[in-house]
Amino acid sequence: MMHHQTLSAWPGVLEFYRPYMTWLPEGASIVTLQEGNTPLIPAPRLAELAGGGFELFLKYEGVNPTASFKDRGMTAAMTQAVIRKAKLVICASTGNTSASAAAYAGRAGLRCVVLLPHGKIALGKLAQARMYGAEIIALRGNFDDALRLVRELGARPDVEVVNSINPVRIEGQKSAAFEICDVLGRAPDFHFLPVGNAGNITAYWKGFNEYHKHGRISILPKMCGFQAAGSAPIVTGKPVTDPQTVATAIRIGNPASWQGASAAVAESGGVIESVTDAEILAAYAQTARLEGLFAEPASTAPVAGLLRMGRQGLIPKGSVVTLTLTGHGLKDPDTAMDQNKIDAVVVEPHLDAVMESLAFS
Ligand code: F0G
Repeated sequence: MMHHQTLSAWPGVLEFYRPYMTWLPEGASIVTLQEGNTPLIPAPRLAELAGGGFELFLKYEGVNPTASFKDRGMTAAMTQAVIRKAKLVICASTGNTSASAAAYAGRAGLRCVVLLPHGKIALGKLAQARMYGAEIIALRGNFDDALRLVRELGARPDVEVVNSINPVRIEGQKSAAFEICDVLGRAPDFHFLPVGNAGNITAYWKGFNEYHKHGRISILPKMCGFQAAGSAPIVTGKPVTDPQTVATAIRIGNPASWQGASAAVAESGGVIESVTDAEILAAYAQTARLEGLFAEPASTAPVAGLLRMGRQGLIPKGSVVTLTLTGHGLKDPDTAMDQNKIDAVVVEPHLDAVMESLAFS
């Protein structure tokens, strides 16, 4: 007799956490790709590298339908766009938001226009926007220019802005904090994540607070956000006019949710700091090699931050630490190939040749 466990279909984050989605009207038809329910994976080797003595879990958001955490908010934004009978959805993006918007808009049957900084979008993200059928406008400018234009376009009632300045995006994204607590059976002591436009840190903090208020968790984590050194307006306290970093996803000089990020850090007793591109790239390789998790460079900014804080003794023994790997490594194949200049060895298809190249006797 074989004993099987039963698997039931995951309905997506809005349906699963519906009691916490008070903005969602009764009977609304939800636009979903069954996003969320992503794995929370123990990462003991990275924890060791950071000095050890604590438990580390990585929330692997790269396995969402469009391979980043953006899908959690996009199910909400697109559901809302349909409810409001929008004719067009638009967003500014460093790549992931545009990929997600394009996919969900296609599913909802809505026209989708994305404004992107020309030449600064990782290859996989551009491929996604094209395949899902978005209309792509490349600006001779950066993300901040794109968001300014989107705010202007979004003043029209038939246009829905699906950036995180749309509050329902935050409502969807807070589900990641719920999932972490549900899986751990408690809140973490620290939560680490990258900060770009600062919507996600705002969303996680809202999620943890709602679970706390409803008695689902008894403590709140310290929120630890990391910006790239060349794009660290919140850390330096002033907007950056020409932000630069290898982590193109967080190449943002004037974050829309600046206030939300500052509040999350201050209220939780956390930190917001910057890490250099060299630290980000080292953490990028280490995350892939030590844990088997390939995440894009922006996602490994908090890994770099954790390695530094751990080694400085800032993570107390016995702590439970969670960290969000926000996007899949395959999003940015160019950076991966640049990091690994060692080409494959090309040999004739004979055992001798393979053995010889291995120097294996
Ligand atoms: N990590 C990845 C992979 C991202 O794509 C982003 C943001 C962030 C982290 C930062 O999140 O903006 O909420 O602080 N990407 C946006 C985009 C800007 O257009 O895809 P945030």
